[in-house]
Amino acid sequence: MTQDELKQAVAKAAIEYVPDNCIVGVGTGSTANYFIDELARIKGRIDGAVASSEASAQRLKAHGIPVLDLNVVDELPVYVDGADEINHQLHMIKGGGAALTREKIVAAVAKQFICIADQSKLVDVLGTFPLPIEVIPMARSHVGREIVRLGGHPALREGVLTDNGNVIIDVHGMQIAQPVELEKQLDQIVGVVTNGLFAARRADVLLLGTAQGVRTYK
Ligand code: A5P
Repeated sequence: MTQDELKQAVAKAAIEYVPDNCIVGVGTGSTANYFIDELARIKGRIDGAVASSEASAQRLKAHGIPVLDLNVVDELPVYVDGADEINHQLHMIKGGGAALTREKIVAAVAKQFICIADQSKLVDVLGTFPLPIEVIPMARSHVGREIVRLGGHPALREGVLTDNGNVIIDVHGMQIAQPVELEKQLDQIVGVVTNGLFAARRADVLLLGTAQGVRTYK
């Protein structure tokens, strides 16, 4: 199976977690796009979606799925999104698509976080994928220096502005043995909006696409 076929398979499997007549939280990225396409097939049985990026909102609307503002939604039973890396404790690195802040907000509201990923994303230790950090533009150099003090190698993602008008610093060279602690520590740096560690609020379920089929981890 190709990587795209694995992504499609997990996107399809995630539909099982979507209750009838609910608002669905929808993530960002190529795997989330497959999920949006699957959601379109069952759009008659959901009330709408909350999107974690402008790109996902556009794709949902193109399928005729109503997109709601998170502020008007009382309950979000499920949030479905991909990841750049996920470990066996279901802690993740996210933000490869620069949508980490809105993703973390929607994930915080949702009762269940369903991570959909192909087998290449499962790792023993997070950090081979550079950790994205969304930063207020004027704090870029300050945040970079603080990251160096923590042992990371910061690189500004050239030409990228987030949906919130901020920049992304990708941190290379960190073996993240304690994701919950590092997530907190990075959030303490003045000028950091969000970091791409999703550990304090990890995934509840991982649907992993493998050559042998979709594996479920909880
Ligand atoms: C978007 O900002 C990310 O958090 C994505 O969830 C992540 O990059 C996974 O993307 P793919 O599904 O395209 O690998």
